[in-house]
Amino acid sequence: MRNFKSIFTGPIVLVLALSLISLNVNAQPKPWDAPANYKSMKNPVAKGDASNKAGMALYTKTCAPCHGKTGLGDGVKARALKDFPGDFSGAAYQNQTDGEHFYKTKFGRGEMPKYEGKLSDEDIWNLVNYMRTFKK
Ligand code: HEC
Repeated sequence: MRNFKSIFTGPIVLVLALSLISLNVNAQPKPWDAPANYKSMKNPVAKGDASNKAGMALYTKTCAPCHGKTGLGDGVKARALKDFPGDFSGAAYQNQTDGEHFYKTKFGRGEMPKYEGKLSDEDIWNLVNYMRTFKK
């Protein structure tokens, strides 16, 4: 009788364990801290129309497929990602320094690509400036 029971409970326990693991995979991304020297880095590119225009062109082509046209994390490729790309209109993003945005864009992590060597520092600062315009 005991063996008979475990034939049923075994798979149930397994299914429960697997669903817990998959819940964890879909959880909010872990905290991501930029090193102090990047956090306090001064943005050398002045904010304004010229920078926003350059940033927007790059963003729309390169970043919007995941981050969404207005930075809500709802791009066409976002659904296929394990981690939520973040909401650039909200406080969790907007309260970070320009240097933190620069660091994360340049070096990436996990599903967030690394743009070091693909985009110049100036390109990245233009992106950082443009992404400020998503603030609610
Ligand atoms: C393939 C999808 C994808 C593309 C393309 C992409 N990102 Fe990301 N991005 C992500 C994901 C996923 C995260 C969350 C990573 C994490 O927390 O581990 C992220 C995180 C970020 C963050 C940190 C957000 C925060 O709240 O701290 C910044 C900044 C960022 N991306 C900028 C960019 C820029 C700028 C581009 C284009 C040059 C870009 N990303 C292109 C997927 C992408």
